[in-house]
Amino acid sequence: MEKLYKEGKVKAIGVSNFQIHHLKDLMNNAQIKPMVNQVEFHPSLTQKELLAFCKEEHIQLEAWSPLMHGKLLDHTILKKIGNKYGKSPAQVILRWDLQNGVVTIPKSVNEARIKENANLFDFELSEEEMSIINALNQDERFGPDPDNFDF
Ligand SMILES: NC(=O)c1ccc[n+]([C@@H]2O[C@H](COP(=O)([O-])OP(=O)(O)OC[C@H]3O[C@@H](n4cnc5c(N)ncnc54)[C@H](OP(=O)(O)O)[C@@H]3O)[C@@H](O)[C@H]2O)c1
Repeated sequence: MEKLYKEGKVKAIGVSNFQIHHLKDLMNNAQIKPMVNQVEFHPSLTQKELLAFCKEEHIQLEAWSPLMHGKLLDHTILKKIGNKYGKSPAQVILRWDLQNGVVTIPKSVNEARIKENANLFDFELSEEEMSIINALNQDERFGPDPDNFDF
């Protein structure tokens, strides 16, 4: 990837499912710091330390399964916050991603929901609402744990 980047064939290179120690190992050996780290990230897995580390190192964190594959969409608190702005729980989560400085990649095969997931720029969560959502963390993964993955 470094070779492709140096040749100008790709604009950015990055990694996925890297914990802090994986990033440190890589940065000890790499010539180019990864620009992106795509990890599972949603209100049940807020990855506070990893997010802070990536911000400090100017590595863009990107959220996969940002909606926890649909499992968070009935959450009472997210619904309540959404009601205040006329937004769905999915939109509240995706807006929380953006306000946390996290790039987000929700997936939907439904045209209306794809539009809904992009309609995030006409409201702003308050600092208190951001803190409330940050505090929903349960360290709960939908996907595999990168430290204990059965390759
Ligand atoms: N790097 C990695 O290791 C890794 C691992 C897993 C996933 N990913 C990537 O992450 C992306 C998203 O992950 P994901 O598909 O697991 O989870 P997700 O985006 O959190 O959730 C997708 C599910 O939520 C539903 N949905 C989407 N928008 C909705 C909305 N506004 N209202 C209600 N339901 C909604 C979708 O159903 P409908 O389609 O019916 O709307 C689908 O069932 C994918 O592009 C995937 O490739 C990366």
